[in-house]
Amino acid sequence: MSTAKVKVALIGYGVVGQGFASLASERADIEIVAVCVNNKAKPRIGNQHFVFNVDDLFELDFDVVVEATDAPYKKVKEWYLSAQDIQVPFVTANKQFVATYLVSNEISEDDRGLLYEASVSAAIPIIRSLQTCFPQGVKRIEGILNGSSNYILSDIFRNGSSIEEAIQIAQLKGFAESDPSLDLNGSDPAAKLAILIRNAFGIEVGAKEIPVFGLESINGADIRLARSLGNEIRYIAHAEVQDGKLTAWVAPVLVEKESLWGSIQEAENAIVVTDASDESYLFKGRGAGARPTGTALLNDVLASQSGFRYRYADDVKRLPIQDVRRTVWIRSYKDKAIIDPLRSDVISSRLDGPWDHNQFRTSLKELIEDTIGIEKDHGVLFTAL
Ligand SMILES: NC(=O)c1ccc[n+]([C@@H]2O[C@H](COP(=O)([O-])OP(=O)(O)OC[C@H]3O[C@@H](n4cnc5c(N)ncnc54)[C@H](OP(=O)(O)O)[C@@H]3O)[C@@H](O)[C@H]2O)c1
Repeated sequence: MSTAKVKVALIGYGVVGQGFASLASERADIEIVAVCVNNKAKPRIGNQHFVFNVDDLFELDFDVVVEATDAPYKKVKEWYLSAQDIQVPFVTANKQFVATYLVSNEISEDDRGLLYEASVSAAIPIIRSLQTCFPQGVKRIEGILNGSSNYILSDIFRNGSSIEEAIQIAQLKGFAESDPSLDLNGSDPAAKLAILIRNAFGIEVGAKEIPVFGLESINGADIRLARSLGNEIRYIAHAEVQDGKLTAWVAPVLVEKESLWGSIQEAENAIVVTDASDESYLFKGRGAGARPTGTALLNDVLASQSGFRYRYADDVKRLPIQDVRRTVWIRSYKDKAIIDPLRSDVISSRLDGPWDHNQFRTSLKELIEDTIGIEKDHGVLFTAL
């Protein structure tokens, strides 16, 4: 018995595009009609039909677009709107596009199937779960959302690598970007957190509005502090709605080795969703890579063909992120306190060479104001969740 094949127009043939193409080639029910790429001179693996212009791709006959590029927001939005014009679903792995689009537009029933499971934590089915599994509502989301930074941190704490060695190993293994700041400055988990906030709470929030404490300012003294406290560090994204107020942040957090967060190793991701009844649900798995991300795209392609669409609440809210007080460790040069001692009491202190670590309870808004522009001269570590 022959079944009709789903015809896919694929844009992008890098790590993720090739991962998707390889999975599609193992199935009888999917056909990639053509792949659009950028660079004519690049040698290509596989016997795909390549085109170099999305207009040429859109002249072909297909059922769904799969977008797996690193193209800028405006380009991806153009492609998405073209797919919408011809009422074809658009499946994407591009978190920067999704995070920006969800905020800048009113998503409505007219949106013809924008599906983006692959954009957050690859194969972990977190978007679908937030859309369908929490009828009572979600109260809190916490997660390790960036596989590269988790690889770097777990290598430092479990294998004794220095920060520089861990970054190099992550790059060699293909987990980290060639420009490590993209993994360490927090823009990646902030975009993913904005997408989760939209789906969990029905609240629109821009990734740039989320208070982010970069992993890039952590140095050897912070690692020694974590070890001396019997802890490790993980890069955690957090969002919570209480009494109709939203709090959210992304920060390096001290975690116990034996805790759930301490157990997340290498490029794994983990997300804990707490519902309105205070029940917590753990989602865990590989958060990046060709096949895990390709699998999420494949699932969305198949779901789009059986009519699956995300549902968004009609009363989408645009709420500001509230300030929150947290206990943090701050590293600064000796005698160059960053936090005004009149504003926050010091809970405890440690000295390490030229560095002074002080533990404070402080407002995140004030902490950001106090540390802006001096990223290399301080480190911020949140205490355990
Ligand atoms: N890598 C992961 O594990 C992972 C996980 C989840 C999500 N993602 C997301 O998936 C997307 C792709 O990531 P990747 O790692 O596969 O990137 P990549 O390896 O750098 O590949 C990017 C691909 O996009 C193509 N491209 C860029 N601009 C284009 C344009 N204007 N028109 C047509 N093609 C264009 C490139 O073409 P050329 O081949 O001609 O250069 C290349 O094939 C990104 O949004 C990323 O954030 C990645």
